[in-house]
Amino acid sequence: MAEPTSPIERVAVIMPTYEERQNLEAIAGRLRAAVPHVDLLVVDDNSPDGTGDLADKLSEVDTHIQVLHRTDKAGLGPAYIAGFRWAMERGYDAVVEMDADGSHQPEQLPLLLTALDGADGVIGSRWVPGGQLLNWPKSREILSRGANVYARLMLGLDIRDSTGGYRAYRTSALRAISLDTVESAGYCFQIDLTLRLVQAGMRIVEVPITFVERERGASKMSRAIIGEAFLRVAQWGVAARVKNRRAPGRQRAQ
Ligand code: GDD
Ligand code: MN
Repeated sequence: MAEPTSPIERVAVIMPTYEERQNLEAIAGRLRAAVPHVDLLVVDDNSPDGTGDLADKLSEVDTHIQVLHRTDKAGLGPAYIAGFRWAMERGYDAVVEMDADGSHQPEQLPLLLTALDGADGVIGSRWVPGGQLLNWPKSREILSRGANVYARLMLGLDIRDSTGGYRAYRTSALRAISLDTVESAGYCFQIDLTLRLVQAGMRIVEVPITFVERERGASKMSRAIIGEAFLRVAQWGVAARVKNRRAPGRQRAQ
């Protein structure tokens, strides 16, 4: 396993897409301009609006852009795991999670990658000093704050934005946890991976980001996604408590 200080050379940005035809070209262009040495993998779940075809066209004219086509909309978690595996099989040192809708600024990626020099994982955080939200509806802000407080209380995680979706991981850290057993389909995938990495003793740091609400297309957030997160976080919280009780003196799950 690589030490957190080993150099990071090859980086793959994994970008899950579902109906992002109006956003993909602009975000891909911004990413390629902001950090030209990274590669982009678009993971499209057979979007009805033709996002996958557009991704193929971008890939044809830029060797730094690749596309993974999946047959069904299976959620953010499975899309990211497929993307991580793709990157690990190809020898990348790090993967980045980035939304396609412009909420995550490619121009801020160097902040995440610099922080990854001394860590196993970096979360671009809205809820640390310096973190900002632009144009987010009050309802989403309340949901995000509430979800983070809930996750902190249930799981004892010392992380301000465990639901945030702008991240960088060393592939060595992903190899230290078992991706095979990840069942999270929706956005609780973010909390799931945070918890697994912390429990595996990986060093996770947060850096402030500016999250900008999308201007085009619609969020895929749904009641089902919120319900899944609520239930799974409760289950993980109970499981961690049981584990700690069985191993007295080891309060931190290892
Ligand atoms: N392939 C695939 N399959 N992509 C998906 C799916 C899916 O089932 N669902 C969503 N996506 C893609 C979207 O196309 C977008 O690029 C990205 O995942 C984020 O989806 P949004 O629907 O824009 O998420 P959001 O803005 O509501 O939520 C953001 O904040 C959440 C928590 O605050 C995201 O950053 C989430 O990751 C984050 O947990
Ligand atoms: Mn979004």
